[in-house]
Amino acid sequence: MYREVEESQTLLINTQTKELTAQNRNVFQFGFGQSPFMPPVYVQDALKSAVKHKEYSSVQGDVELRKNIASFHFEHNGLEVESDNVIIAPGSKILIFNILLAFQKADVFIPAPAWVSYGPQAKLAGHHIIKLPTSYEKRWRITPEAIHDATSDKHHKPSILILNYPGNPDGLTYTEDELKGLATAVGEYNMLVISDEIYGLLDHNNTHLSFANYYPERTVTTTGLSKWCGAGGWRFGAALISKGVDSSFKQALLGIGSETYSCAPVPVQMAARVAYREYKEIQPYINNQSQILKEVGSYCSDQLRKSNIRVHPPQGAFYLFLDFSLFQEKLKSKGIGTSHEFCSKLLDETGVVLLPSTAFGFEPSFLGARLAYVDFDEPKKGEVFSLKEHCPKIIEGIENLCQWISRS
Ligand SMILES: Cc1ncc(COP(=O)(O)O)c(C=O)c1O
Repeated sequence: MYREVEESQTLLINTQTKELTAQNRNVFQFGFGQSPFMPPVYVQDALKSAVKHKEYSSVQGDVELRKNIASFHFEHNGLEVESDNVIIAPGSKILIFNILLAFQKADVFIPAPAWVSYGPQAKLAGHHIIKLPTSYEKRWRITPEAIHDATSDKHHKPSILILNYPGNPDGLTYTEDELKGLATAVGEYNMLVISDEIYGLLDHNNTHLSFANYYPERTVTTTGLSKWCGAGGWRFGAALISKGVDSSFKQALLGIGSETYSCAPVPVQMAARVAYREYKEIQPYINNQSQILKEVGSYCSDQLRKSNIRVHPPQGAFYLFLDFSLFQEKLKSKGIGTSHEFCSKLLDETGVVLLPSTAFGFEPSFLGARLAYVDFDEPKKGEVFSLKEHCPKIIEGIENLCQWISRS
């Protein structure tokens, strides 16, 4: 029979949101994490003028583009990778899946909370999933102890850890000391680390550190244009394989790529050549976004904290992970006992869309949810960003949420 695969929960919430919008309900779209920013005009132009590139590229991707990506990341934060170890694909999602598929059988360590697709992908690839629990008090960070505790003598298969920072759904990052500690721990078990750094360029303080620099032995960094370049629908991702990873891994990844997607769209690869031409060239575009996201994210977390909602001020990306457990008793008396019931009641009564924490690896009874603070329009050319002018939906939606929770 068929495999059991539910539609990705982020897509599901997007569909529900569209349905409510179609009914003319006032909806605050904090459910779906899509960048509100357009790609830079010169990158858009590069895509337009590449439309005649109808040929296939090699599976690995355009050579000049791979060189650009390698030097771009080195310039950005010193991440070292040979252009020959850069693999291009139609999105980093398929790359993460194919990295998992490259292993016959593995134990996959996934933090909770973590991005919605890691668990289902590891399951589809036939692997054994091991959750690494975190807590609000520990800022939703995994620690070397969590890795040691989860790694028992029973596990003899190859092990893979999936790290993601700045994180979806938490918007938080790791310090250098934390990364070094994790590198030592994973090194003890010879784990392969998929370091999902798709939001690395959207670190609000531009201080993103790449895990590969602390664990060059066995790290594969994944990234792409979907977030910092606002081009999710263009479908462009890259995997950066550290020098210590054996070459048969790369061959397996290319083999799987050749039997599945063949190559990333070539016009998009041509546009990516331009986007990745030089880090310095694109830096003002990225800094502008980071500043705006920082302001919006800090506003939201400040307001929510005033209403006693447990949330950490964001450090990157465009998400907040909200912990409503302090309201557990009160919510229970309203008939709310799960994060799904919480989000559905909230949506129904306020129009605020959040994504329940079950999507990120929590038990149904944990009252958590992700808030994506992207329901705003980017300022037009020449306009100075102002929360009041550009983010009325954010302000109203957060107000509705705070009032609803205080009333509960
Ligand atoms: C944490 C994380 N990783 C990976 C992806 C996949 O991005 P893409 O396939 O567009 O490169 C996303 C997109 O939502 C994400 O949030």
